[in-house]
Amino acid sequence: MTRFANSTLQPFFAMEILARAKALEAEGRDIVHLEVGEPGVPPAPRVIEAVRAALPEAQRYTNAKGQLKLRLGLADYYRAQHGVAVDPERIVVTMGSSSAFILGFLGALEAGSKIAVTRPGYPAYLNTLDGLNFGAVEIPVTAADGWHLTGAAIEASYAREKFDGLLFASPANPTGAAVDRAGLGEIIATCRRLGVRFISDEIYHGLDYRGPSVSALEFGDDAIVINSFSKYYCMTGWRIGWMVLPEDLIRRTEMLQQNLFISAPTLSQIAARVALGEREYSEVQKAHYAENRQVLTEGLRGLGFGLGAASDGAFYAYTDVSAFTNDSLDFCKRLLEQTGVAATPGIDFDRVDGRRFVRFSYAGTRQAMDQALERLAGFVK
Ligand SMILES: Cc1ncc(COP(=O)(O)O)c(C=O)c1O
Repeated sequence: MTRFANSTLQPFFAMEILARAKALEAEGRDIVHLEVGEPGVPPAPRVIEAVRAALPEAQRYTNAKGQLKLRLGLADYYRAQHGVAVDPERIVVTMGSSSAFILGFLGALEAGSKIAVTRPGYPAYLNTLDGLNFGAVEIPVTAADGWHLTGAAIEASYAREKFDGLLFASPANPTGAAVDRAGLGEIIATCRRLGVRFISDEIYHGLDYRGPSVSALEFGDDAIVINSFSKYYCMTGWRIGWMVLPEDLIRRTEMLQQNLFISAPTLSQIAARVALGEREYSEVQKAHYAENRQVLTEGLRGLGFGLGAASDGAFYAYTDVSAFTNDSLDFCKRLLEQTGVAATPGIDFDRVDGRRFVRFSYAGTRQAMDQALERLAGFVK
């Protein structure tokens, strides 16, 4: 018996669909990519210019926490967007939010601790927890409730099985659900009452369609806040993000970063600092997503996909496909092979009910949405 006999580690199916889609593209097939959550456009032109100019001197490690200029820029961002003062000493620059999860779990929680996440949720949460030998508790959220997590749902799950941390994203992947100020306040208050460490994944901040994004930092300094340049700033491949830490976790997290990753990539830190000043560019992209959101939501509904109101934020439509199949993986594979439309099966996000769901990303172009809908119409007929 291997020592991994109890592992629940799963592939990241979106990445597997992407790999197959790329292989088909290499054979000359025309593929419409709605499987991965990444903007199709590059970062703002000034970001590229700054990186070009910095190339000759960017070969060295930076300070483990990241360049002070970038951390000062992030402190300015919190002041401007959220009206909160954040000491740059509390900020650690990371390789996307992905490495921040590792630092967050290892820095804040005892070995073997349990962390709660929503189901459906971002697949890497469970897989990262599994890989690091932490436990996971899943809190179900439903389409009927707009996929929103509530304090009551947290309490009910905790009563069934205690946990030490809660990792929560708003807006969320794959549902796009976002809580408002009152909703986030209730979640944070519930965690405090239960003695649960709150970890706020704010990677889709800036991409709320119903109002400004609300940060956990607006409710105090006890949460671990994780964010990234991947989505709003169109920088997925630059692998750059950050975390804001409560006072008591700064030193331990810094030591973990020194040893696990040394520092985030220098060039990407330079790019990120410039990107912070290019929000107008990001707002233009957001307007495109907002248009796609409308087109895709209405189009999918018209074809018989089960979908409530357009998502609150991010760039995903999480649809019920039970009118067509009871096996979303098979559905996505056939869809890709037969029509060239790449989408992600719900089993990535929900190991219990995911066979009934498929996620479509609307981060691409308007033309991609139209093409996808046209091909889907032929497929589901
Ligand atoms: C909710 C959520 N968190 C984190 C990530 C990881 O992003 P990155 O490591 O590029 O910052 C993603 C990527 O899709 C995501 O959807």
